[in-house]
Amino acid sequence: MSNNFNYKTLQDLQQDIKNHNIALNCATSFDALQKPVQLKNHAIPNSVCAHPMEGGDAISIGIKSGAPGPLTFRKYQRVAAGGFGLIWVEAVSICDEGRSNPGQLWINEQTLPGFKELVQKTHEAATAKPIIVMQLNHSGRYSKPQGKHAPIIASHIPELDARFNIDETYPIVTDEYLQGLVAQFVKAAKLAYEAGFDGVDVKACHGYLLHELLSCRTRQGEYGGSFTNRTKLMLQIIDEIRAAIPNPKFIIASRINIFDALPQYHGFGMASPGATEPDLTEPIELTKAMVARGVELVSITMGNPYFIPHINRPYDLGAYPPPEHPLLGAYRLIKSAADLQSAVPAAKIVGVGYSWFRRFSPHIAAAVLEEGKAAMIGFGRQILSYPDIYNDIATGQIDSSRVCVSCSKCSFLKRDAGTCGCVVRDAEAYLQLYRDTYPRHCHVGDAAFGVPQIERDANTMKKTAIITGGTRGIGLAIAQTLSAEGYNIVITGRGKEAQSLPANALYVQSDISQKQARENLVTETIAHFGRIDILINNAGVAPANRTDLLEMTEESFDHVLNVNLKGAFFLSQLVANHMVQANITDGRIIFISSISAYTSSTNRGEYCISKAALSMVRALFADRLAEEGIHVFEVRPGVIQTDMTAGVAEKYDKLIAEGLSPIKRWGKPEDVAGVVKLLCRDEFAFSTGDVINVDGGFHIRRL
Ligand SMILES: Cc1cc2nc3c(=O)[nH]c(=O)nc-3n(C[C@H](O)[C@H](O)[C@H](O)COP(=O)(O)O)c2cc1C
Ligand code: SF4
Repeated sequence: MSNNFNYKTLQDLQQDIKNHNIALNCATSFDALQKPVQLKNHAIPNSVCAHPMEGGDAISIGIKSGAPGPLTFRKYQRVAAGGFGLIWVEAVSICDEGRSNPGQLWINEQTLPGFKELVQKTHEAATAKPIIVMQLNHSGRYSKPQGKHAPIIASHIPELDARFNIDETYPIVTDEYLQGLVAQFVKAAKLAYEAGFDGVDVKACHGYLLHELLSCRTRQGEYGGSFTNRTKLMLQIIDEIRAAIPNPKFIIASRINIFDALPQYHGFGMASPGATEPDLTEPIELTKAMVARGVELVSITMGNPYFIPHINRPYDLGAYPPPEHPLLGAYRLIKSAADLQSAVPAAKIVGVGYSWFRRFSPHIAAAVLEEGKAAMIGFGRQILSYPDIYNDIATGQIDSSRVCVSCSKCSFLKRDAGTCGCVVRDAEAYLQLYRDTYPRHCHVGDAAFGVPQIERDANTMKKTAIITGGTRGIGLAIAQTLSAEGYNIVITGRGKEAQSLPANALYVQSDISQKQARENLVTETIAHFGRIDILINNAGVAPANRTDLLEMTEESFDHVLNVNLKGAFFLSQLVANHMVQANITDGRIIFISSISAYTSSTNRGEYCISKAALSMVRALFADRLAEEGIHVFEVRPGVIQTDMTAGVAEKYDKLIAEGLSPIKRWGKPEDVAGVVKLLCRDEFAFSTGDVINVDGGFHIRRL
């Protein structure tokens, strides 16, 4: 069974929750999300928080950067207009050397006016009266202030060190340096206060410096070893901020990792090295200690986005296929928040793990609130894809065409282009950048499909056709013909680059016999064009060696069937699911088979078998997909002149001259492409399951 989000209805999701035997409920009303949250000195207008999503969109002021840039303003204005009650502004650096990249926000005297303006403009755009909190951070081992890694580490964590070639001689940061950070955090908090923020978050999560300290069991000195020592710096910072800003209305919050999930190291929230589930003993103690210092809001998170992102943000598609069902990952986040909330009722726990639930996220979130399992619900990726989701929660009408589809493209952009936005739903702002960053390549690992209609730019208004094996011969002719018909074209091939492509076609390197490659293909197509209307299953291989049926090897059988049959079947299944979920009516799935589907060639039996079976695949899909408005056809070429038949040209010249087919000529790739073009047109609206022979009449039995 697929691990992707493929629930058509809420009932499907509920059934899967049941199948996984986990305690998640779905509310029928979203009222709980609209309830104000009462802090000691503030009322947050509703229970929905926009989680911090770091952009890297700072602009330069003088020689240093760090002030909010146009994309920063845009992000928070959209979220504010979207009605979120709590806006938790992304990681802002407290110092130069602790910046995660040169474009990270950095609060200092020079950038203060920019932050003032950010608060003001966010409030102006707001439909509710949101509380705005700034996340203060030192990036620690992920510091990259000049664009080059410049790690500042509190201890050696071998599995994380290895990622950035940190060897055991690399120095760990001194106690003096750490002590000096207290003043830096305080200074940053005071500037945030001056800028008009309602509060600050002393961030200790995601592998950054304050978080790393929480697990420094082997570190010597004041900040390592015991729980008291490991949490000392964080708590000192909180105390000092409170002392420096005595105004009780100024909120001190914190975002903490409550489970590090490191495969070998003894991270925070782990009973032992490599523990696979949280042990909240220490996170509970830390939360209590913070609450005792007046911290009211505690946002929880897990994992390390640089190392094990599937723990941090359950996804369908990411840098690697998630080793667990994302439902289980989301559940871990939600359940652990509930456990912490129940252990420290005085804290207002802001939960996470909801974006993966897409249009059903409000159902899950409202149930969590109803059951008191968190005080607030936070959305991360969903704020990029659907910044006004709260407004729609309030009306009870979630627009499934705007939800996040957990494709990780925003994270890739953040990593490789230094900004983060939704490539799929905010295409106007981010799609071109994504295309420029990843020209004509798949850079992503696993699948996200089931994207309902996305906001439509010029390309997404056009229909999109995928042609597998489209770099030459019949496939290329089909691609050129459909391109001339006005479709967006996606072509697959095995090579890194394609030699000749129709203008504006997307090339995706893809071996369709591989599950991951098929899933990449679908995801990449959706990211570029937003939709798939037509799939032409053209890719096929002949046996590497023609051998007599009695000598055919299993390897050759598997190879040919894996590409010609299995690949085509499962790609069609994937695309069909996308079409159904995206409400693509009038879709087409076309199989390019061969006269070999019924003509015996005993020296390439595996090829004949694959094409005969493909014919049944056509019939099955035609039958199943008729009710979904998807038309399925098979085009059966005869002897077609391509470079694949060049080696046997002489043989076929002779056979054709002798009357192999009533029409005595070679078929051309354009003959096949012309038929495909017509099958894609509306005129075939009442047909499905047909086989169209393009063989010069070869199929006619003759005497
Ligand atoms: C591109 C990107 C940037 C993020 N930036 C931050 C950040 O600045 N601070 C932070 O605490 N979390 C950050 N996160 C984590 C999110 O706040 C959130 O915890 C995560 O996406 C899971 O929530 P979701 O399932 O709703 O997306 C970021 C996540 C992504 C994908
Ligand atoms: S790019 Fe958009 S759809 Fe994909 S994970 Fe990010 S927010 Fe979600």
